[in-house]
Amino acid sequence: MPKSKILHTILVSTIILSCANEPYYEDASNIDNQLLALIDENSNGIGVDYFTLPSSNDYLSIPQDPLNPLNNAKVELGKMLVHETATGGNPKMNSVINTYSCASCHPVASGFFSGNRQGIGEGGTGFGSQGETRTVNLDMPLDSVDILPIKVPSLLNTAYQKVMLWNGALGGTDINAPFTTLYPDDIPENALGYQGLEVQGMNGQTAHRLKIDEEFVTTYGYKDLFDAAFPDFNENDRYSKLTGGLAIAAFNRTLLANEAPWQDWLKGNYNAMSTQEKRGAILFLDRALCVNCHTGPSLNSNNFYALGLNDMDASGAIVVNQEQLAVMKKGRGGFTNNSEDDYKFKVPSLYNLKDNPIYGHGGSYSSLNGIISYIVSGNKENDIVPNSQLAEEFINLNLTTQEINDITAFVEHALYDNNLERYVPTSVFSGNCIPNGDTQSQIDLGCN
Ligand code: HEC
Ligand code: HEC
Repeated sequence: MPKSKILHTILVSTIILSCANEPYYEDASNIDNQLLALIDENSNGIGVDYFTLPSSNDYLSIPQDPLNPLNNAKVELGKMLVHETATGGNPKMNSVINTYSCASCHPVASGFFSGNRQGIGEGGTGFGSQGETRTVNLDMPLDSVDILPIKVPSLLNTAYQKVMLWNGALGGTDINAPFTTLYPDDIPENALGYQGLEVQGMNGQTAHRLKIDEEFVTTYGYKDLFDAAFPDFNENDRYSKLTGGLAIAAFNRTLLANEAPWQDWLKGNYNAMSTQEKRGAILFLDRALCVNCHTGPSLNSNNFYALGLNDMDASGAIVVNQEQLAVMKKGRGGFTNNSEDDYKFKVPSLYNLKDNPIYGHGGSYSSLNGIISYIVSGNKENDIVPNSQLAEEFINLNLTTQEINDITAFVEHALYDNNLERYVPTSVFSGNCIPNGDTQSQIDLGCN
């Protein structure tokens, strides 16, 4: 066990404590000082700001696409569009028209995760209390249902990702710049020069059979909101997949878990976390190596690693399209066609994970303690992943059960914003049920 590292940490915090003039650490107890010292160490000396999420209306501080600057009008429009089932205007089965939305697979009740093993858009029925009972509508041929063989990520904190999806396929800038003309048929928007969230906002409408155009805008009364959000667009281009996508992306950028206890703690409220959660945070930032990959305000990074986790076919999926799965299994390599990227997945944000107990890109764990124990074991579960691809941190860290429980407590409770309802409109202009309009969902959601 690397005792020297612990000793070093204690020494560092004692030295800091003894600098009596340092107001920053003044009234924090010893464990808080340890944590503050580790935060400095892991942020090039920037300190708590490095890990702090901005307010959702602090538009100057939220990371954004220079081609889609944030403003209130766009955010308000995007908030409606993400929850509006009248966007569901391009179904494969006409009888379910206008009964699904982005939020069918990303409902707030589940932390903007799906709430079930595989999110279902068109062809889904029911909701339960947080998406957990949503299942396929058997009137629809299985191969036509909108469902993917990979875990639905949350919309929370996506402002901190330059490219989107587990393989980072969506986005025309940054690390995707060399690949912007790959897949011109499937992802034409990558060639437009927008970042990942903007590309997803447009491409997601095609992928999930939504229709945002002039007819939608006039039928459901969204014209004024589009006019306010996009005054610079010529009227002929103002009501479209493009502007709809930009508004959706603007809204998604404001979805920040900034009321989580860890965030309160960072702002100086040292009572916001329990002692156990603080011990977990210390391990997270130090011996457990989590911070090597999960860092910054959203505890993610724009890198891809293989942790050898199972894919969805090995973990009780409902519906699997083998062709899609074959590409998805390869992770980043399935997009770049570069074998060095094979089986590597993006580093996800770690907030509000307890809302949807399905973990890993293939959903192979149903408890946080389970997946964290797996990650620190260094013992891969998926034999198709060659050892040479595995992340160098994926080794047995020899943590005790107590230490793993402490890390779990930190992730489960300190990274949990319990007030996400603030991000959802109380109603949408169609008057439809939010987020689903199928008969069973209406009953479950109390809409009828
Ligand atoms: C059928 C369910 C479903 C619907 C409907 C749906 N999504 Fe998703 N969403 C997913 C899945 C599954 C992924 C991950 C896919 C992957 O990585 O290959 C995803 C990924 C994303 C991501 C990337 C997040 C990340 O961390 O990389 C964003 C953003 C997103 N969706 C937003 C939306 C928006 C906006 C809409 C509506 C336009 C939408 N989704 C509709 C299932 C859905
Ligand atoms: C080498 C980089 C790396 C390190 C170190 C690392 N992670 Fe991760 N983490 C990832 C990646 C990449 C994924 C997604 C892997 C996948 O699904 O195939 C992930 C997934 C997770 C998930 C599942 C999230 C979800 O949405 O299903 C949790 C929880 C998690 N990590 C917590 C931790 C904790 C706690 C530590 C420290 C003990 C840690 N990670 C260390 C890169 C890392």
